[in-house]
Amino acid sequence: MQRILTGIQSTNQPHLGNILGAIEPMVQLSQAPNMEAFAFIADLHALTTVKEGQDRRHKVRQVAATWIACGFDVEKNRLYCQSDLPEVTELTWYLNCFTPFPMLANAHSFKDKSNRLSDVNAGLFTYPVLMAADILGYDAHWVPVGKDQLQHLEMARDIAHSINHRYGDVLVVPQAKVAEETMLIPGTDGQKMSKSYGNFIDIFLPEKELKKVLMGILTDSTPLEEPKDADACIVYQLFKCIGSPEQALEMRNKLQAGGYGYGHAKSELLGALLQRFDKARGIYADLMSNPDELERILAKGAERTRPILHETLQRVRNALGFSVS
Ligand code: ADP
Ligand code: TRP
Repeated sequence: MQRILTGIQSTNQPHLGNILGAIEPMVQLSQAPNMEAFAFIADLHALTTVKEGQDRRHKVRQVAATWIACGFDVEKNRLYCQSDLPEVTELTWYLNCFTPFPMLANAHSFKDKSNRLSDVNAGLFTYPVLMAADILGYDAHWVPVGKDQLQHLEMARDIAHSINHRYGDVLVVPQAKVAEETMLIPGTDGQKMSKSYGNFIDIFLPEKELKKVLMGILTDSTPLEEPKDADACIVYQLFKCIGSPEQALEMRNKLQAGGYGYGHAKSELLGALLQRFDKARGIYADLMSNPDELERILAKGAERTRPILHETLQRVRNALGFSVS
């Protein structure tokens, strides 16, 4: 069995880019018979920025509901909330003591903010060590991540090596799994879709609101009757990721022929999104209107996962010379 693990911070409702670029590929990998998949919601990481508890828990539920709505099988695999297994912070402490200061000072996640050090809390500085504990605590072999997280993964590997070098084979050294053809979903303004740019599409919005977001996609001012360059059209770029290749080709031809406006293309995109995510939208809405059920699923996920973390902690405590139970 190969163990594959990934985490998503509970800082926002996952958007179309997160779903197509991270969640759906993980769901696919999790379906292989020799794969054991762990997906968790990194709410301790989110605390570095989201301070209000109820808001954070609501976002935990949104992320959990998204995983389930996108087909992640919580019976075969494990879906849990990071803070429901607080022992991970004990492991973080042990790992902290094997993490060189310059390694953390060199992390992009910290360096990007280091021009205003008064805004940086210690949690943000040691963020990569908690991430290493998330991975090493569960003996993960593979970690699917976006390119921006590769540096953090290297740190997790370095920390594991440093402990193994001194104490023998205590920790499994994980490997990053970066999608081959890294699909980059554009946002409504044509830049990479990201929660930080405010250009994202939340596919779980009510239809009217979703339509409004799609109507706001940036287009040029080519008149309706004139031919349009499909490759420069954000609506088409998005449609290509949602519709079938035949549907994409059809839209391409219509754009290039002229007499077909961006408004038409946006309506088709709306239809395609509603169709493709029809089932997911239903599951998501049901789960979000039943928070107790979501909490039950998360509690069960944590309960099924806890023994693995305990086992790793025993190994680490034993290696470091602390008492074991
Ligand atoms: P954001 O940019 O909105 O803050 P995150 O950095 O939290 O998103 O992304 C979580 C994961 O979702 C990333 O590691 C990446 O694999 C995927 N992802 C995010 N945005 C996109 C996108 N526009 N296209 C494809 N994948 C994306
Ligand atoms: N830092 C990751 C992100 O922002 C989230 C994360 C936390 C994570 N712990 C992890 C991802 C462990 C993979 C494995 O995207």
